[in-house]
Amino acid sequence: MNDARPDAPWWRDAVCYEVYIRSFADAGSDGYGDLPGLTSRLGHLADLGVDALWITPFYPSPQHDHGYDVADYRDVEPTYGDLEAFDTMLTGAHELGLKVIVDLVPNHTSSEHPWFQAALAAGPGSPERARYLFRDGKGRAGREPPNNWLSVFGGPAWERVPDGQWYLHLFDSSQPDLDWTNPEVAADFETTLRFWLDRGVDGFRVDVAHGLRKAAGLPDVDDPQKFVSGTMPRAPMWDQPEVHEVYRRWHEVLAGYDGDRMMVAEAWAATPAATMAYARPDEMSQAFNFHWLEAEWSAREFRDVVSLSLTEAATVDSSPTWVLSNHDVVRHPTRYGGGKVGLARGRAATMAMLALPGSAYLYQGEELGLEQVEVPETQRQDPEFLNGRGPGRDGCRVPIPWSGTAAPYGNGTGDPWLPQPDGWAALTVEAQRAEPDSTLSFYRRVLAARRALAGDAVELVDLGEDVLAFRRGAVLVVLNAGEEHVPLPDGEVLLASDGLGGEGTLPPDCAAWLAVAPVS
Ligand code: NOJ
Repeated sequence: MNDARPDAPWWRDAVCYEVYIRSFADAGSDGYGDLPGLTSRLGHLADLGVDALWITPFYPSPQHDHGYDVADYRDVEPTYGDLEAFDTMLTGAHELGLKVIVDLVPNHTSSEHPWFQAALAAGPGSPERARYLFRDGKGRAGREPPNNWLSVFGGPAWERVPDGQWYLHLFDSSQPDLDWTNPEVAADFETTLRFWLDRGVDGFRVDVAHGLRKAAGLPDVDDPQKFVSGTMPRAPMWDQPEVHEVYRRWHEVLAGYDGDRMMVAEAWAATPAATMAYARPDEMSQAFNFHWLEAEWSAREFRDVVSLSLTEAATVDSSPTWVLSNHDVVRHPTRYGGGKVGLARGRAATMAMLALPGSAYLYQGEELGLEQVEVPETQRQDPEFLNGRGPGRDGCRVPIPWSGTAAPYGNGTGDPWLPQPDGWAALTVEAQRAEPDSTLSFYRRVLAARRALAGDAVELVDLGEDVLAFRRGAVLVVLNAGEEHVPLPDGEVLLASDGLGGEGTLPPDCAAWLAVAPVS
């Protein structure tokens, strides 16, 4: 609760924990996390002190993109359980005071979705094909793709079907893009929204929110490789103005329900303003802000991130969001150099992030200080890697360690779907729970202390080039990103990310919260 906005909806300053369902907790022995596993571990999330959980797609899916290829939007993948298991999890979460956000994937379906199968069977010109973006090819006998767009996962964004037509897939060829100009598509997603809202979910994380509409005529681009990123200005496949109509309609749907149901956009648009447009008052509640996740370990960059993010959120009267890690990026202790230094920096950045107003999104395992795992190439499963687009994202998706001294570390009893490293014994929840200096205990302390913070006003304070420092109410946050100790201003130290230096100094790679006189 925020003193400046006593009536603010719950999500405005919530801490939300991302559950990557496949890797969170396996209640059985198949090596995949599942809903009963999540239910059995809800106590961990309540103890940790988060407010909400976001669960990655758990719907029926051939899992070519680990659930972001949905074959049925209104059911549960049998590997993960069934609708009853979902309801049990939801009730359990609500009983513990935790909100639940589910992931909605509207840009594309799985190629195994009945609609796509019907489109293949029905042939060119049929209403079944009109739910997707089927086109004739160019060149002799239409042998070349309809345009020069590339897939985010590598190669052309078009796949040819046996009758000679092509379909668009901005991601894997098993993820055909829907045609959002077709009213049938919009109507079906409204049914899906209501299906989960009626079951009691508190919100939606909207995947590829900026992708749903494409420029009329699907024009070629001048440099296709550049346009695989949504951040390219004037991209005909991303961030078309008409996409906002979809979210204005969804806003109305959610407003018809009680309890401040929310939506958060995953929208990698070309400018911060374009991203925040998804969080305008009549659209989604929030948009992910990835500035911190993209920043180097640098006080100057962090200062820019903080001031830019606060300004951007204010322009649309939304609350800022903060993210250091998720299932698509290298874990932040590894990004910050790895080992002891990477972990120290990770903890310091977390402490600064969690002192800011707005919502923070945490990614499972960061509370254990997990690093990116080097998954052997023969065992990688991410389509990004399999399609030759870099190392892939498996390294941040390895099933998390709960207990014990060897794989599967209490995460079920079978072989985990991605191999866990040796040496995680000291990082399990069980090992860290009672250890006051552990990263888990650290997260719990910070999350508990965060509850006492209030007010939206943040003031950057100049404590030198290598220091991020800001005040929020009666707390001064100081992060030392330099190589020398820095003197700490007067004030009782409320929290520190690591042991402090003697003589009132803050060592490199550390952060502290200090009690100071409130600004009058
Ligand atoms: C963003 C998701 O976070 C990512 O994991 C997925 O591969 C793409 N969207 C495609 O759905």
